[in-house]
Order: sequence, then C-alpha cells, then structure tokens
Amino acid sequence: MENTENTTVSMPRIGEKAPAFKAVTTQGEIDFPKQYEGHWVILFSHPADFTPVCTSEFMTFATLENKFDELDCKLVGLSVDGLYSHIAWLRTIKDKMEYKGMKNVEVKFPLIEDITMEVAKKYGMIQPGEAATKAVRAVFVIDPKGVIRAIIYYPLSLGRNFDELIRVVQALKTADAFSISTPADWRPGDDVIVPTAGSCGVAKERMDGKEEGVTCVDWFFCTKKIDKDTVIKTITKK
Ligand code: BEZ
Repeated sequence: MENTENTTVSMPRIGEKAPAFKAVTTQGEIDFPKQYEGHWVILFSHPADFTPVCTSEFMTFATLENKFDELDCKLVGLSVDGLYSHIAWLRTIKDKMEYKGMKNVEVKFPLIEDITMEVAKKYGMIQPGEAATKAVRAVFVIDPKGVIRAIIYYPLSLGRNFDELIRVVQALKTADAFSISTPADWRPGDDVIVPTAGSCGVAKERMDGKEEGVTCVDWFFCTKKIDKDTVIKTITKK
C-alpha cells in the first residue's frame, strides 16, 4: 500500500500473525507478541502524551485493567513519544488528574516508546491523511497464538468506547469456545448464532425443530441459548 509520501507502509490484517518487534516500554523491554503467547493482548496506540482525549482513555484503560485481566487479556499501549515523556505523563495522571470519578490512577501496563515510528508504521498506525507525525487511535486484539483477531481504528478526535473493547474480547473468546458466531450488539447471555448447516439434511432437521436447543428463523439464521453464567465461567481466567 502506498502512503502520501510514496513509501511503502504495511497494514496488518485480521487472521495474520501480529508483526513481531522488540521495544522499550515504561515497564522495561518487551518482545512482542512472543512474550504474550498463551494470553490475549490488546495492542493500542494513542496520538500523544499530555493530550486530553488520550488522558481520559489511559485513565479508563488503567481503571478497567482488572476487567481485561479477568478475560486473561493484557494491555500494551504505544505512542511516538519518548520514554521520559511517557513517564512524566503517567506520573501527572496519577498525581493530578481526576475524570469521571477516576482519581490517583496508576497505569501499570507497558507503554511503548516509538520515537522512530518503527512499530507504528508496522501496524499501520500512522495514517498521514489524519496525522503524519502521530499515531491514530488503533486497537489490535491478538489471540493466544499471536494472531490478529480484530482491528479498530479511531481518528484523533474520537475517544474509544471501552464497553465495546471488552465486548469484542468476550465475543471472540465465546466464539472460539463454543464454535458459534455472535449477532449484532451481542452480550454474554444473549442468543448466539449457530453455523449454517453444511448439508440440506441437517438444515431441514434444524428447520423442523429436531436439533435440540436450536431455533431457526430460516435455514441460514439459526440461534441457540448459552446462559450468561456458562459464558462468563468459560471465558474468564481460571
Ligand atoms: C487528544 O488526545 O486530546 C488529542 C491528541 C491528538 C490530537 C487531538 C486530540
């Protein structure tokens, strides 16, 4: 893919291995995604330290870190700022910032310094139409095998919706565990979508209500119930 300066940029895609890199972070060096193998991880970028939308997002990420952890999902942030800027900003967040009832918020997950933009470029986080010198708000949800499972990009002006980020991890883990799909606005406890039958015979049995627990509106749209407790128990860290 060509960017506006005619240099090649990569855009990782869903289903591909997360591009590997080593980097310096506020929590020491990381070897990504290798050291996260066996866990879910959200790699996300923000445009700049000491900016208001990013501050509100970091306070929210840090406050919800325990919810992501329950899903065995680690958090890793990135911006093209340097390490000392990151450290000073996170200290300011802890010491001074108050937002929506969040106060004294300590960011414990790693924040990558990426002054060279090497990592940001690998992940398609620099989108020159939006900003040539800052990362957009990218979110990569990566599974325990290091495969990218979902990607969300937001522009600079738009803070992320954290209910949605948690919902995405819940839905991906549920889909994997039960071999189902999740319909629009799905939340744990809502009906799930059963894969379309591979043969006419199975489809007919389903339509005739002979497949236990499965309800069909038409041959291609069949659902079943998985109760909320079962979903939560299955997708929550043991
Ligand atoms: C912000 O986080 O507030 C922000 C960062 C970069 C550009 C615009 C807004």
